[in-house]
Amino acid sequence: MLFVTPELAPWMKSGGLGDVSMALPGALHRLGVDVRVLVPGYSPLAAAFERAKTVAELPHPGGVLAGARLRTARAASGVPLLILDCPEYYRRPGGAYQDARGRDWPDNHLRFGLLSRVAALLSTAATPAPWQPHVVHCNDWPTALAPAYAHYAGGARAATVLTVHNLAFQGIFPPHTLAELGLPPQAFAIDGVEYYGKLSFLKGGLFFTDGLATVSPTYAREIQTDESGFGLGGLLRVRSARLIGILNGIDTAAWNPATDAHLAARYDFARIEKKALNKAALQRSLGLAVEAEVPLLGVVSRLTEQKGLDVLAAIAPMLVRLPAQLVMLGSGEKRFEQAVAALARQFPGGVAAVIGFDERLAHLIEAGADIFVMPSRYEPCGLNQMYSLRYGTPPVVRATGGLADTVIDCNPASLADGSATGFVFHELAGAALLAAIGRAVSAWRDRSVWRALQKNGMAQDFSWERSARQYCALYESLFAPR
Ligand code: ADP
Ligand code: GLC
Repeated sequence: MLFVTPELAPWMKSGGLGDVSMALPGALHRLGVDVRVLVPGYSPLAAAFERAKTVAELPHPGGVLAGARLRTARAASGVPLLILDCPEYYRRPGGAYQDARGRDWPDNHLRFGLLSRVAALLSTAATPAPWQPHVVHCNDWPTALAPAYAHYAGGARAATVLTVHNLAFQGIFPPHTLAELGLPPQAFAIDGVEYYGKLSFLKGGLFFTDGLATVSPTYAREIQTDESGFGLGGLLRVRSARLIGILNGIDTAAWNPATDAHLAARYDFARIEKKALNKAALQRSLGLAVEAEVPLLGVVSRLTEQKGLDVLAAIAPMLVRLPAQLVMLGSGEKRFEQAVAALARQFPGGVAAVIGFDERLAHLIEAGADIFVMPSRYEPCGLNQMYSLRYGTPPVVRATGGLADTVIDCNPASLADGSATGFVFHELAGAALLAAIGRAVSAWRDRSVWRALQKNGMAQDFSWERSARQYCALYESLFAPR
């Protein structure tokens, strides 16, 4: 199986996809699947695998796409990597999709067209690599042209699977890019890559892929509606029989409060009182009042429209008055970064904000906060709520996508049957969020209720093995009848 991805943690990560791309192939590898990961040779990867061996030269593959070479290396998980080495496209300072100032790279269609094109090439008998997969598993728009390229190449090929991690990002480019990408003119059609007069990577992928997955069962249903389908709901309804929601797992080794080196104090449920040392450390290091009796709310997030933090910001004055404290770590769109920083200035000692990407602090917030908050507008899966469950930090989440699938609302019935893990609200509005946080704070003040919630959450199994088995079944369903 060839797993194709534009992100791979820890070398290149803008969000959950980077984590998933490291962990899922590892879990598949442990199940005995012969899996390799195809990823662009970004500068950090090229530096980490300087001595990677070249296994194939890839001559200029059509259109104006650059030539490249494939190099092999092995991740610590034991999974072989196929690094797509094209310095002209991938060795730049900055992120996978944007430069350091947050502007999209102007040649993204070529950079990810090449990634898709090479994935398609490796799926056929014409592969220049000494290995041919039965299944090519693509992830999000930067890889989504692979099924289209494979279709137009014709002939025998591997089955394709496309996982949608976020339907909002579609890879839409002007029509003239079709020829640059080396796609045939007939591809610019409704039964091709054309989308409202433009070229859409994601639409092409959704149209041509054999198997289709997304990262939670609820999101799989939501994206088939016109309200949450980002313009692709109709196509997804047509492909509904092929679409399956498979919840992501989490890296239970990296996110384990009993062994986490980023924490001020390590703990598990049996030593849950040690969690308080992390809270004090967090409060102290971020200039919050060091108060054990004031609940501390935590946020770790990309700062984008998706995450609904504008709604949280709007009720911040009410939260401070409860009283509660709020710590926010995030980076993303400037307007949100500024709003979050302004809150911290407005409520010194009550609200702390760190703008940036900080792995260590993310872990410390998961451990040190009492309550984790995710008021997402939509959330395909979400990893942070699973981390917070594991860290005994019950989350307050909006009932959307993977949040709805992973958090069970605390009420008398769910407390009684031992299923309660957090607090779920529905309407994306300040009043609804405030009410849910209010319920969480009341529960926090009741020690026996809180311990029960923490225990239920910490006992959840979010390991990757379960998801990996579901993906295996999906792969098998595709190549068995071929
Ligand atoms: P998304 O992929 O939409 O951003 P997820 O919850 O799936 O949401 O994954 C987010 C991942 O990125 C998590 O591993 C989270 O801890 C991490 N993350 C997000 N923002 C930051 C940040 N500012 N600093 C450190 N880690 C972050
Ligand atoms: C996307 C989604 C997030 C999901 C992640 C990994 O970035 O926004 O909800 O957890 O992909 O699948």
